[in-house]
Amino acid sequence: MKLLILNGVNLNRTGLREKSVYGTQTLPEIEREIAAFAAARGIDCEFFQSNLEGELCTKIQETDADGIVLNAGAFTHYSYALRDAIASVDTPVVEVHMSNVHAREEFRHNSVISAVCRGTVLGFGKNSYLLAVESFVL
Ligand code: DQA
Repeated sequence: MKLLILNGVNLNRTGLREKSVYGTQTLPEIEREIAAFAAARGIDCEFFQSNLEGELCTKIQETDADGIVLNAGAFTHYSYALRDAIASVDTPVVEVHMSNVHAREEFRHNSVISAVCRGTVLGFGKNSYLLAVESFVL
């Protein structure tokens, strides 16, 4: 099985920005942990991060992965383009957030992509990604 681990806008700043919210590990460090966790379950991972909404939509449309673990960052809360890209493919998508968005600002409480995702994992820091990967082998 192959999974695409897709990170959206500002996730490249993980480990550098708002450390009390997102922790001190960088995205490449977290990606290495995800790769090892997935490999132990027989899963190959491809990693992609972009700050550009359209690039994320194209990646969702063109991936040959069996599933997608997606942290869309702030696009989660307003990108109908991303929502439609997810709805346009059969590839299952699991939505991920490191922080508990429901305990934060009101604008983060709504996700426009949740309804077209298989499920959502949030609030467990980097472990949100690991739990989302695990969901594909349950
Ligand atoms: C986030 C939560 C979003 O509200 C925020 O815009 C992010 C990261 C998370 O992982 O907790 O960039 O998706």
